[in-house]
Amino acid sequence: MTGPDKQAELQALLTEDRSFAPSAAFTEQANARDPKIYADAAKDPEGFWAKEAADLLWRKPWTQVLDWKPPHAKWFVGGQLNVSENCLDRHLTTWRRTKAALIFEGEPGDQRVLTYQDLHREVCQFANVLKSLGVRKGDRINIYLPMIPEAAVAMLACTRIGAVHSVVFGGFSAEALRERINDAKAKILITADGGWRRGGVVPLKQVADEAVKDCPTIEKTVVVRRVGDKAQVAFDPARDVWYHEAMATASAVCPAEPMDAEDMLFVLYTSGSTGKPKGIVHTTGGYLTHAATTVKYVFDLKDTDVYWCTADVGWVTGHTYIVYGPLANGATALMYEGTPDYPDKDRFWRVIEKHKVNIFYTAPTAIRTFMRWGEEFPKRCDLSSLRLLGTVGEPINPEAWIWYHEFIGRKRVPIVDTWWQTETGGILISPLPGLTKTKPGSATMALPGISVDIVNDEGQPVDAGYLVLTKPWPGMLRTILNNDDRYRAQYWEKYNLKYYFTGDGAKRDKDGYLWLLGRVDDVMNVSGHRISTMEVESALVDHHSVAEAAVIGRTHEVKGQAVSAFVTLKASVRGDEALIKELKQHVVGKIGALARPEEIFLTAELPKTRSGKIMRRLLRDVAEGRVLGDTTTLADPAVVAKLKTQYEGKDEG
Ligand code: PRX
Repeated sequence: MTGPDKQAELQALLTEDRSFAPSAAFTEQANARDPKIYADAAKDPEGFWAKEAADLLWRKPWTQVLDWKPPHAKWFVGGQLNVSENCLDRHLTTWRRTKAALIFEGEPGDQRVLTYQDLHREVCQFANVLKSLGVRKGDRINIYLPMIPEAAVAMLACTRIGAVHSVVFGGFSAEALRERINDAKAKILITADGGWRRGGVVPLKQVADEAVKDCPTIEKTVVVRRVGDKAQVAFDPARDVWYHEAMATASAVCPAEPMDAEDMLFVLYTSGSTGKPKGIVHTTGGYLTHAATTVKYVFDLKDTDVYWCTADVGWVTGHTYIVYGPLANGATALMYEGTPDYPDKDRFWRVIEKHKVNIFYTAPTAIRTFMRWGEEFPKRCDLSSLRLLGTVGEPINPEAWIWYHEFIGRKRVPIVDTWWQTETGGILISPLPGLTKTKPGSATMALPGISVDIVNDEGQPVDAGYLVLTKPWPGMLRTILNNDDRYRAQYWEKYNLKYYFTGDGAKRDKDGYLWLLGRVDDVMNVSGHRISTMEVESALVDHHSVAEAAVIGRTHEVKGQAVSAFVTLKASVRGDEALIKELKQHVVGKIGALARPEEIFLTAELPKTRSGKIMRRLLRDVAEGRVLGDTTTLADPAVVAKLKTQYEGKDEG
């Protein structure tokens, strides 16, 4: 956060004085309605979490709530449980047996409803399929699927037999998928022939085939049929197995494997400040406790609700708030396969109207897109079923918050702005909808049982600085797969193992409300997707024409940030439009369409310090049209001045 514009933006945020108190009617029925919940949890956080954990089904009780040897935490030590049993079997002995667990809305308009009984059967069968393919407890399984019920089935089937899943978002390229499969040493890959997107087919199996060419640990690929003859699928009978064929003969009886509370549940890759993605490790008991508790209190979930989180299961939001949290609560969760603009820009609102969705959770970037499309789309639809709205993934600007409140919430529905990360496993900062007065743009305060602070570089509490977590929490990551040193260095060393460093900047206002300000490291947030500048830089320099590349996240009205690249070419190469296009495509091939640079600017030189470090901060000033910050440490200040003039002339792509 530098530069005068950012300061002005910040000032505007902190003078945001509109506030919205929960209605008496909402509070009266809320799962969290007594403000004492905060004080009680603050007095005894471990006691708070233990009480919540006790609502789960344990095969063996724990002997110790928390064993904290910084930076390593163990929660519910000695306890044993199974996640699929908690999400499924537990509900089968109640009236929920025939309740809808998942409502699936396919992009072409097809619909599937799976009751808890149906989902349980399918999960048990698929767990048996995995076993028949040689999967054992502790094995790693890669899941590369569209947003179809089989994604949840595959995840839950892994948890049933103690296999560790690693879900990779279907928008990642073959190369990105390969890197993740190889890091996790996955034995099985679960994919589909394709998925529907804007009326076309995403050729997942083709990408998967490309990826597994260099994945020596993959023994079998299980293929779900989703698009049928709309996709060209090469089938290798020695390696590939059709999901529907294997399921046809699989038994529906599969006992759940009792797992240690600290057994690994899943790995999920995310971007850090280096080029290599980090495999974030989550374990069983603490994660499930955190997921179930936050769904109950933050989303105020009731048995009669239809709940819809629009994230993809390839991201942590999909893990915690489509699959594990809602199902652990016996909820009805909706899954939608496609994009919000297909066949028309009212698709989300049509889905809400059709399924009478009560709770809706989406990203600020989506809300800003809806704003741009105009309110006529939601206005056409009956949204009266909605009773709670949520946002996640990036800071929400007050304007977007107010739009959401007015045109989706119709001025009567509370909004929860939830702050968290892949690493945190679940929500940490958010209003409680029946208790917290909200302010547009502020995630408000830490949840009960969570301790946060804002500190400076020295670790002293300040009103504007770095957001840290001052106590361990159950859903926290346990390590980075194959790299505990990086775990320690990345999150804990900055404050000598005392605080968890989030990488986010934050401010506290006069009422003690927290305002999240975005990343303070080299991580970009593009449409709510986390992408490291280094990852895109390595993809660019991997191209034979590129000598050097510097990438920044430029403020973007809809996406939050857009990838902006400054590239110097090798001496013999002539830069033109065609090359710029090729470079963009090269990044898509290396990482995926989500990382495609919005613009690539070819330049003869990059601004560097005397020690040769590229000054990205100045590039950001250039890209955002600001007055240049301090240039005194530059080897040659003329480089950036020239770049600015050139950039403003916009002879780029
Ligand atoms: O910068 C914060 C931002 O997203 C980052 C985490 O990204 P990821 O691990 O991909 O998880 C996204 C979904 C949980 C954070 O470090 N972020 C997430 N939620 C918010 C947010 N920034 C501001 N307000 C939020 N509500």
